[in-house]
Amino acid sequence: MPGTAIIGLQWGDEAKGKIVDLLTEQNDIVVRYQGGANAGHTVVFGGKKYKLSLVPSGIFRPQVQCVIAGGVVLNPKSILEEIGGLTAQGITIGKNLLISDRANVIFPWHALEDQIFNSIGGGESIGTTGRGIGPCYQDKAGRSLAVRLGDFYKPDFKAKIENIVRVKNRIFAGLRAADGAGGTLNADEIFTEFTAYGERLRPFVADTTDYLLNAVDADKRILFEGAQGSLLDIDHGTFPYVTSSNSSGTGISSGSGVPAHFLKKIIGIVKAYTTRVGGGPCPTEQDNGIGQKIRDRGNEYGTVTKRPRRCGWFDAVAVRYSARLSGVDVLSIMLLDVLSSFEELKICTAYNIDGQTVKHFPSQFEDLRKAEPVYETLPGWKEEIDSVRRYSDLPDNAQNYVKRISELVGKPVEIVSVGPDRTQTILVN
Ligand code: GDP
Ligand code: IMO
Ligand code: MG
Repeated sequence: MPGTAIIGLQWGDEAKGKIVDLLTEQNDIVVRYQGGANAGHTVVFGGKKYKLSLVPSGIFRPQVQCVIAGGVVLNPKSILEEIGGLTAQGITIGKNLLISDRANVIFPWHALEDQIFNSIGGGESIGTTGRGIGPCYQDKAGRSLAVRLGDFYKPDFKAKIENIVRVKNRIFAGLRAADGAGGTLNADEIFTEFTAYGERLRPFVADTTDYLLNAVDADKRILFEGAQGSLLDIDHGTFPYVTSSNSSGTGISSGSGVPAHFLKKIIGIVKAYTTRVGGGPCPTEQDNGIGQKIRDRGNEYGTVTKRPRRCGWFDAVAVRYSARLSGVDVLSIMLLDVLSSFEELKICTAYNIDGQTVKHFPSQFEDLRKAEPVYETLPGWKEEIDSVRRYSDLPDNAQNYVKRISELVGKPVEIVSVGPDRTQTILVN
């Protein structure tokens, strides 16, 4: 049976959570496979709004198995709080959630390091979510200071924590001596606190790679839930203004352990415009009344950090690149309703960089920063469209806007979203 993936094609917050929730019904398993509690995915149904960070957005259908795979960096306190919050909202979480024993764990030193190393070479800030994501992936790649969830249940767990805290305290002492940064960690306190988290998490812990490979053999339908967006990918995004995992389609296999050829359909999620949180270039950003109108109408404030999102016009150069990178078959265009009432709308179709017109997405962020967007202008539509349910009932100019995005990106559009609720969804054709 086919595997399906939901991948953000911009800089995150494309409304992936809404589409994962929608498609969960047609699947047996939903998998988060990269990122961590930097993600904030929103699902709205039955008059209620749910915010998810580590728990897969498939959790609202109790018959579906949710999996947090080994590529995720896990903050045990965050996930326990999240499980507690969802349970209090009436959501059942038990055997329907598995967490990989391979997941690397975020410790208090990672959050400290995130604060200290948030700027590029001591210069401009990356504007991370401050959740310790980068430092945890750094220790994973370095191996010697990494702790995986499975390590919690081994006899040498205490010694491991003591050894790592000794090294980290030396590093922090050095930094403090140099410029007053850092803190002091207490190994005993951390060991006691995290042992308790480990006990509470024990019922969920499993070898999820083995579980998913068996599911593949058993022809199960698996939905992969990407976090962040393709342009934040550590290898293929706007480095160094990126997150620390492969958040494009390239990360699905490495993060989950499921071979890439199992994937039969990749759905690229895009907003009908552009947003970005944190630092880094964003050529179509409108730091003016237009950007503010999009922010107001789209309620564009971060789910995790509450920061105002940077807003601008749709960038077809960037999305054409990310759609090809992520192997996208079809597009889902989200938040189209936000663009109602604009007199005209612009779409970026090329960049001017150093006097040259280019249609490819630059590999170097300095070039992207210099890029002046070349815009095509389309007429807007006045009507609110949040109650439209059939594609043919959308205003002509809205249909033309969707069609033009599809042409420029080079992929067909399968879904158009006109509001946060499950029901505010239009299936094209
Ligand atoms: P994710 O991280 O990709 O899952 O996206 P977020 O949840 O961070 O941000 C998307 C926001 O847009 C959430 O507040 C959603 O409830 C909301 N949303 C989703 N689809 C639509 C839509 O079609 N229209 C509007 N107005 N809001 C939407
Ligand atoms: P979802 O899954 C939007 C951004 C941060 C920062 C950069 C690095 O909700 O789409 P990190 O804490 O990951 O080291 O921060 O990446 N970022 C996101 N932006 N949506 C997200 O997740 C993000 N996760 C990280 O703002 O610019
Ligand atoms: Mg989000």
